[in-house]
Amino acid sequence: MAIIKVQKGTKDILPPEMPIWHFMEEKAKKIFTKYGAKEIRTPIFEATELFARGVGDTTDIVNKEMYTFEKSDRSLTLRPENTAGVVRAFIENGMHRLSAPVKLWYKGPMFRYERPQAGRQRQFHQVGVEVFGIKQATADAEVILMAVNYLKELGLNDLTVELNSLGCPKCREEFKTRLKDVIRPYLPQLCEDCQTRFDKNPLRLLDCKSPECQEIYAKPEIQAVIQGDFICQECSDHFEELKGYLDTLGIKYERNKLLVRGLDYYNRTVFEIKSNNLGSQNAVCGGGRYDSLVKNLGGEDVPAIGFAMGMERLASLLGEKQDEKLTAYVVSNNTIEAIKLTEELRSKDITCEFDLTNKKFVKQLEKASKIAKYALILGEDEIANNEITVKNLDSGEQKTVKRNELDMK
Ligand code: HAM
Repeated sequence: MAIIKVQKGTKDILPPEMPIWHFMEEKAKKIFTKYGAKEIRTPIFEATELFARGVGDTTDIVNKEMYTFEKSDRSLTLRPENTAGVVRAFIENGMHRLSAPVKLWYKGPMFRYERPQAGRQRQFHQVGVEVFGIKQATADAEVILMAVNYLKELGLNDLTVELNSLGCPKCREEFKTRLKDVIRPYLPQLCEDCQTRFDKNPLRLLDCKSPECQEIYAKPEIQAVIQGDFICQECSDHFEELKGYLDTLGIKYERNKLLVRGLDYYNRTVFEIKSNNLGSQNAVCGGGRYDSLVKNLGGEDVPAIGFAMGMERLASLLGEKQDEKLTAYVVSNNTIEAIKLTEELRSKDITCEFDLTNKKFVKQLEKASKIAKYALILGEDEIANNEITVKNLDSGEQKTVKRNELDMK
């Protein structure tokens, strides 16, 4: 019979890879907790409308990439990202009444129907943080600090922080108009996507990957608009304040005026953290401020900022981590005694197994040397004398001890 295979763009995370995943998850809990963030877990599917209104119906995510299905006349969508879901939970649970800032962190699977390639999957995992209630740039600095310190704690230092300010809706409108004015003469030469973006979401023109479009956007009159500072005084002060904090904290960043991000909810600060070792899908982290989203989704006027990181991309940078060996393997032809000793050790939180098939003694020892740090030998003599022979499987050293003197630590 034909075997059923894993779906394109999805992957099993197999036991040998788990140490890396546990490492990323434990560090996330440790670091984000230190900053006062609390974990939140929201459902994997939500009303489709949440993403249409939250992420924005001009984005590729909403237009092309959502896994949407109908159940009982309701349109539901597997979450393509988690900011919208966390904002929904924030509103629904009246979290605006909590003392600000409200800091939440999460981890879990996300779903986007994208063309799979290295670093891009259809089911992938994110770890992320959302901070609510602070409009000052101190929150922007702290959120970037959380991301950078988490990556440092994972041992990933060779990364670049890219930073930009998208201004507020008012200054951005002016920018969009100016951008459209200079690009309009080239409209027929742009790719199909850009022709659509021109009307729907002109900022997204800037991160088109087509070389033909890039050549057009490199023209001096277009670059003059892109590179010019379009943001208003208030947005500019906010951005300068943030840069001041980052400089004081020693966080290096590069200003990237082309950084616009693929989700509609951002205003002012946006940032990405990139690696040179990941090929074309090189962003390990993306984030920014979204001061209108809570209100747009029916909540109070609560500013917010956050980020999310792709865990598969982090895992591929971290490489392999040695799978932990069992601490002990009980070697004995007396099954009952073997079970008893194994359970006794497990009750003391020591990882331990014994041979379930009652193989020959030598075979059991061979197996122990492959999977465990110590073999605990229970032969007839040991059982009769209430002793255990402990063999260190790295050094080969062995000694016989009284059972109540066994110390595996
Ligand atoms: P995003 O830039 O769409 O932002 O995704 C964040 C990160 O998730 C990316 O930098 C990348 O590492 C990873 N990622 C995205 N798509 C894929 C994929 N198809 N396969 C593998 N990894 C992927 C957001 O999702 C926003 N919600 C971030 C945010 C939180 N902004 C404010 N708060």
